[in-house]
Amino acid sequence: MTRIIISQRSAPPRQGEVKISLVFEGDLSRPPYTSLVLARAKKHAFTGKADQLFMMGNHAGYQLWLFIGMGKRADFSYTKLKQRLADGLRLVRQQRFSRAVVAPDLVIGRDCFALGKNIALAAELVNYRFNKYQNQKGRVDETLVETLEIYFTGLGRQEKKQFADGVTLGEKIAAGVNLTRDLVNEPASHLRPEDLVDQARVIAKTSDGKINMTVLDKSACRKLGMGAFLAVAQGSVRPPRFIILEYNQGQRAPAQKKTICLVGKSIVFDSGGLSLKPSEAMTDMKIDMAGGATVLGLFQVLAQTGDSRHEVIGILPVCENMPSGQAVRPGDVVRAMNGTTIEVLNTDAEGRLTLADGLAYAHKYFRPDAVIDIATLTGACMVALGEEITGLLGNDESLLRQIEAAGQRSGEELWRLPLYQRYAKMLKKSIADLKNVSGSRWGGTITAALFLQEFTAQRAWVHLDIAGPAYNKGKAHGTVAQGGTGWGVEMLFDFINHY
Ligand code: BES
Ligand code: MG
Ligand code: ZN
Repeated sequence: MTRIIISQRSAPPRQGEVKISLVFEGDLSRPPYTSLVLARAKKHAFTGKADQLFMMGNHAGYQLWLFIGMGKRADFSYTKLKQRLADGLRLVRQQRFSRAVVAPDLVIGRDCFALGKNIALAAELVNYRFNKYQNQKGRVDETLVETLEIYFTGLGRQEKKQFADGVTLGEKIAAGVNLTRDLVNEPASHLRPEDLVDQARVIAKTSDGKINMTVLDKSACRKLGMGAFLAVAQGSVRPPRFIILEYNQGQRAPAQKKTICLVGKSIVFDSGGLSLKPSEAMTDMKIDMAGGATVLGLFQVLAQTGDSRHEVIGILPVCENMPSGQAVRPGDVVRAMNGTTIEVLNTDAEGRLTLADGLAYAHKYFRPDAVIDIATLTGACMVALGEEITGLLGNDESLLRQIEAAGQRSGEELWRLPLYQRYAKMLKKSIADLKNVSGSRWGGTITAALFLQEFTAQRAWVHLDIAGPAYNKGKAHGTVAQGGTGWGVEMLFDFINHY
């Protein structure tokens, strides 16, 4: 953890620390920059643009000055501050400095809570590493930023408290995001359905009674008629688990209180089943439980903060999609919990089968005001939107807008795709009520969402396809880690608190 402190000292340079300046475009000419600094910055073409970082060491190399380009002052947002500070802190780590002080230029606006929250998020999201399987010598040689000092003068007691509260919340949200990342990064060899149950149990236990957990095993699911979920699970030797988490603060007046169900796709490994994936497509399929991991990360934040006045239900149908002599076959017909029969024409379209029973369960037992499912559902979504943008579809304009607004506030990119009803007929030429694939290569994200729609009982529902953003195969950038990203934890927490 990075210790974040407010300081009132007029930051004279200290040995062994990095002094960070956040510079808006064109502002470098203002005081307190010396002519030496200005000359150097000019030489390196640093002008404060939002993608620029400029580092300058003193003669001994003991001290470093880091300039973070913030872009135009008019475009400032706390989310942008979070992203830019994250890039800066990553560089500080790589340069192996363990202390940094953010210079006065930071004093922008006076929302001390937002400032504290976003600084803490930047620090803790950059601190994340997944190196438990590396021997010491193989680990990247870098330090932790142990202390981050924020130079901030003229603060009253109230403002200091707001800042500190913001830091505390930011740290808790970041811990939730980092938990999601850990679960996504964990290889399937070390993550059985039962391991997600253990994780959920820890979250419930440490929630001070705010979260209640129920786990259904295979025979309980059988009794409830979850034929779609169990069909996916049946090829694996590792038994399925259906996890239900119920968060209830139980304090506010019932009139204000709404019920939000979050259903997370939780396939611990997706081989494709008998419709086996080619090798390259299979390599990253340990991530196919990212939706469920996001729900768990969110519940950890709820457990630690108790911040929502609503009832929040997390539903994780957890299993593994494997080929075997017991596996579901292409052409088999299964019956979901709501009575809908499904012809399974492609066993690699397994997520929608597990979610069908997850959604049906949500409606049968909770009569939710809003249902959100989050899933690494289709490669087609990556074709449409690339690797960094989540696809958003749904049947309720107001709910869709609220999710879009939450994404904008948290800085997690999402984009709406149409739930075009004419395509629904592509799922209906079947010997059963529905088939699980459309039979066309085109519009795969939309037809997958239209399949899910059949299990939403016409109530407000949105679907988030995180096939791309759940995992970052490239380098870390901003607060986005390499590997599991924890996409959606911040956004969903923000959504719930504004709903
Ligand atoms: N888990 C995959 C989707 C996926 C692909 C997630 C790449 C992350 C990265 C999903 O179960 C799947 O296999 N979808 C198929 C659907 C098809 C058979 C209709 C796909 O996208 O090819
Ligand atoms: Mg699949
Ligand atoms: Zn899958």
